[in-house]
Amino acid sequence: MKTLIIAGHPDLNRSRISKAWTEMLKQQMDITVHVLSEAYPDRTIDIPAEQALLDRHDRLIFQYPLYWYSTPPILKQWFDEVLEYGWAFGPGGEHLKGKEIGIAISTVGTAASYQPGGYNLFTIRDIAKPVEALANYVGALYLPPFSLHNANHVTDEEIAASSEAYLNHLKTVHNVKTPDLLTR
Ligand SMILES: Cc1cc2nc3c(=O)[nH]c(=O)nc-3n(C[C@H](O)[C@H](O)[C@H](O)COP(=O)(O)O)c2cc1C
Repeated sequence: MKTLIIAGHPDLNRSRISKAWTEMLKQQMDITVHVLSEAYPDRTIDIPAEQALLDRHDRLIFQYPLYWYSTPPILKQWFDEVLEYGWAFGPGGEHLKGKEIGIAISTVGTAASYQPGGYNLFTIRDIAKPVEALANYVGALYLPPFSLHNANHVTDEEIAASSEAYLNHLKTVHNVKTPDLLTR
């Protein structure tokens, strides 16, 4: 299982969480870490190179800080430009079929706020439903999310522990069909 981490943080020099996660993941065998803001400082994405990179991996993890309940712009741009008709979907568009797709998200909101009844209203899985729908659309298997919350108050020790937990998540996570998919 070859895993590709697609890191959508706009500037790792201003990051604590994505930066720590990225440094830890770069030490791992069978994991490729691809930092979009470093690969494309001028924001011009090399689409054939991205597609070739995806072809070489079995599992894609979109790692990003939550920005207005969504992805930072560079990751949205990546979705829009790389997942082309005739490549990711449509005639001949089966390159992501059967791969695994997951997310690893950091938030400033607390864990409790990302629960039903919390001040952010929804769980991370609910908030990231566009990525889950994308995975479904391209025929990939969606993985349960990994997340770290309370970014403004989390200690260096807690970030280090989250890096370990993230790695353990990557080793153990697997796709579980949701009940509504099972009844289709
Ligand atoms: C433009 C912008 C929008 C943000 N929107 C949210 C949000 O909707 N929910 C949230 O919990 N945190 C939000 N945040 C906080 C980031 O998610 C947080 O700073 C980040 O996860 C910390 O990770 P890092 O150390 O890797 O930068 C936002 C931050 C910025 C700059």
